[in-house]
Amino acid sequence: MGKTLQDIQRKDLLQSQGFIDDEWVGASSGATFSVYDPATLDKIATIPEMNAVDVDKAVTAAHRAFQSYKKTSARQRARWLRKWSDLCLENADDLALILTLENGKTLAEAKGEVIYAASFLEWFAGEAERVHGQVVPPANLNQRILTFKQPIGVAACLTPWNFPIAMITRKVGAALAAGCTTVWKPAGETPLSALAQAVLAHEAGFPKGSINVITTLNTVAEVGEALCKNDLVRKVSFTGSTRVGKLLASQCSATLKKLSLELGGNSPFIVFDDANLETAVEACINAKFRNSGQTCVTANRIFVQKGVYHEFADKLSKKIQALKIGPGTEEGVNVGPLTHDRAVEKALNHINDAKKHGGQIVLGGSSVPDLKGYFLQPTLIKNMNRQMLTTREETFAPVVGLYEFATEDEVLELANDCDVGLGSFIITESMARAWRVTEGLEVGMVGVNLGMLSASESPFGGVKHSGYGREGGTQGIEEYLHIKSMLINVAN
Ligand code: SIN
Repeated sequence: MGKTLQDIQRKDLLQSQGFIDDEWVGASSGATFSVYDPATLDKIATIPEMNAVDVDKAVTAAHRAFQSYKKTSARQRARWLRKWSDLCLENADDLALILTLENGKTLAEAKGEVIYAASFLEWFAGEAERVHGQVVPPANLNQRILTFKQPIGVAACLTPWNFPIAMITRKVGAALAAGCTTVWKPAGETPLSALAQAVLAHEAGFPKGSINVITTLNTVAEVGEALCKNDLVRKVSFTGSTRVGKLLASQCSATLKKLSLELGGNSPFIVFDDANLETAVEACINAKFRNSGQTCVTANRIFVQKGVYHEFADKLSKKIQALKIGPGTEEGVNVGPLTHDRAVEKALNHINDAKKHGGQIVLGGSSVPDLKGYFLQPTLIKNMNRQMLTTREETFAPVVGLYEFATEDEVLELANDCDVGLGSFIITESMARAWRVTEGLEVGMVGVNLGMLSASESPFGGVKHSGYGREGGTQGIEEYLHIKSMLINVAN
């Protein structure tokens, strides 16, 4: 029997209310929604279904708090962020268990996400003190010109269910470091991880009103619109689907808010003939099976050059067969359930469509009726081609589709033939080729001989319909700042 929420050591990390102006509160309407464990379909929590009235209260509190928070020293903000990071690491086992029970990822992966999440807080603690302006050489010698940066105001942070802790800290860490106050809107499938983060951020010392959490599942469209249309919110940061990102962008236009959008991807993973195939297989397993294929940078189209196509497929197939599927709380499991109720259906639709267009199912290809939750067998398909649905859309599941290609030019054309451009991966022993292909790919991020693009110090984000803005890196904090210039008359 796997662990349950009863096994959490620090019981106060388990909150089932929203958080506004330093108070744990229910929805103004009294409505609630349920949270389920995707591995067992057991109900694990009842959470307030907040609405536009609650958004208004949270934004008002954040705006009030901003008046004093923006005047705190960067050093003080850095101390609070470091404390929050330390608290995450101290409570990593509890946070990982909460995350596994609401999202489904394995405990080992959940622990990895906690460490990844803490790294953003530590990174932005450092960045808080490195927000520099410039002294600009003036053309008019009677003037002196300088610039400095100021926090933009209240930031709304809208986070997804696939990384419910790390996406909070990647956005909120940057916002609080910059001197902005925050309203968080975690995904309805996974609010418990965000609420546990609010407990720790509060304990770290962030002042009243600087962090607020709005919980919602069925009222999400109303809540999103209320955040986007509220003029006191000066920044919206969203991670999620391209469809919702475009809707939020249109809703933010009336108040001309600053926006960062980290949206859908369709990452090419390219294995060249000169690749080290052990590296290629390991990178592919990491890029594809992390969070059961539910990352926005997951390898969605695996292009393999024809000289190594069959050998790579055989090696990969052996590794996939060794993966153990089951509830993330169980020892030895590598692939947990999908988080979302409609995810298995979507993946099966992609698999059937691939079959219809000539795909050869080598492994898997169906759900797992013996397991109660949203499980899909790790699936390997050969002979993929452009007609298939998965060529154009993210499958967001543990489904590996192999496409054969002949030349570098051909694969660049194939890889760029899509409307999104977030992550990508190249496996080659040639540095010249890695450089050439990196320059040619229409994406925001390229991994060379590895399967993970995630590091707090590296800017994360995409091009084309994958959105704009960057998170992490030195760029992440800039999204929460505006530049003010000062021109001084020195003639008298
Ligand atoms: C995402 O899938 O949205 C984020 C993945 C990452 O940060 O590695």
